[in-house]
Amino acid sequence: MLGDKKILYSGMQATGTLTLGNYLGALKNWVTLNEEYECIYGVMDLHSLTVRQVPAEFRKNARSLYALYVAAGLDPEKNCIYYQSHVSGHAELSWILGCFTYMGELNRMTQFKDKASKHADNVNAGLYTYPVLMAADILLYQADVVPVGVDQKQHLEITRDIAQRFNAVYGDVLTVPEAYIPKAGAKIMSLQDPQKKMSKSDENANATILLLDDRDSILRKFKRAVTDSGSEVRYAADKPGISNLMEIYGCVAGKDMAAVEQEFDGKGYGEFKTAVGEAVADHLKPLQARYQELMTDKAYLDAMIKQNDEKAQGYAVKTLRKVQKKVGLTERIR
Ligand code: TYM
Repeated sequence: MLGDKKILYSGMQATGTLTLGNYLGALKNWVTLNEEYECIYGVMDLHSLTVRQVPAEFRKNARSLYALYVAAGLDPEKNCIYYQSHVSGHAELSWILGCFTYMGELNRMTQFKDKASKHADNVNAGLYTYPVLMAADILLYQADVVPVGVDQKQHLEITRDIAQRFNAVYGDVLTVPEAYIPKAGAKIMSLQDPQKKMSKSDENANATILLLDDRDSILRKFKRAVTDSGSEVRYAADKPGISNLMEIYGCVAGKDMAAVEQEFDGKGYGEFKTAVGEAVADHLKPLQARYQELMTDKAYLDAMIKQNDEKAQGYAVKTLRKVQKKVGLTERIR
C-alpha cells in the first residue's frame, strides 16, 4: 500500500517488438486498471539476457518498449515506468530469494522447460533462475496485484510461495501478490496454428500480429488466418481458430462472445476475418501514431526515464534494506 492505493506491478521482456498477445493479455489491462492502483511497470531487460542479444538492437528494443507503454496510455508522470537494470535491488533481492527457492520448484517451471528445449545450445543458469528474479521484481515493490497473461500464472504462484516461505521465518515482511488474469485475451493464439500461443519468436510472420505492423499487414495476416471447418462464426472448443479471432475481436470492440456471434450471424468466415483485421488496425492506429511521436522526442523520454529510475530506486531500497536486516546482514555504518 502506497498512500491509500494498492500497488500494481508488471513488466515485459525487452526483446523484439510487442505482439497483439502481449497487448491484449497485459498492456491493455494495465491501462484499464491504471486509475485504481499506484502503478509500477518495468522494462524487463535483465530477463531478456537469458537469451543472447545483439547489444545495439537490444538497447533499441528496450527504448521502444518504454515508448510503447507510454503510447498505450500509461502516463510516465503519474506511473513509475522504469528499466529493471537501473535498479540494482532486483539483482540483490533475487540472490537472497534464491536461497529461499528449491530446485525442485524451479524444475517444474513449464516456461523453463519450453525455453530450454528451444535454446538447447544455451541452457544457462539465468534461464533456470528466471522465476526468482521475477519474484524479486514483484516483491521488491510490495505489489498487491500483478496483471499478466495466463502463461505467467505459474511464475506468480512461485512468487507467492517464496514470499510466504520468507514471511513464515521473518514475520510479515513481503506482501503476497495476487495475479490478475483477464477473462478475455489472457491467451491469444497464433493465427497460423490456434493450438500454439501467439509469440514474438514465431518463425512464421503470418502467425503473429505485431503492435507496430502497418494496416495492410494486419489486414493481410487476418485474411490468411487459419479457420476451422464449417462456416458459422461461433465460440466453441471445436472451433479454435474462429474462437481465437472472436476473442481478439471481442477485446478490441469491447463485446462478449454472445454479442460477437450475434453481430456475425449469417455472415461467412471471409467477411468476419476482414472485420477483425479492420477493428484491430483501427484500434492500434492512435497507439502507433503516439509511438512515432514519442520516438522522435528524445528529451522527453530521457527525462521520464531519469525521473522514474529515481522513483523506482526509492521504492525498492526500502524493501531491500528491510529484507537485508531481517536475514541478519550487517547494516551499513553512516
Ligand atoms: P513476456 O515479456 O513474455 O510477456 C509480457 C506479458 O504479455 C503476456 N502475453 C500474452 N498474453 C496473452 N496472449 C499471448 N499470446 C501472450 N504472450 C504474452 C504475458 O503473460 C505477460 O503478461 N516473465 C515475464 C516478464 C516479467 C514480469 C515480471 C511480469 C519479468 N518480471 C514481474 C510481471 C511481473 C515475461 O516474460 O513476459
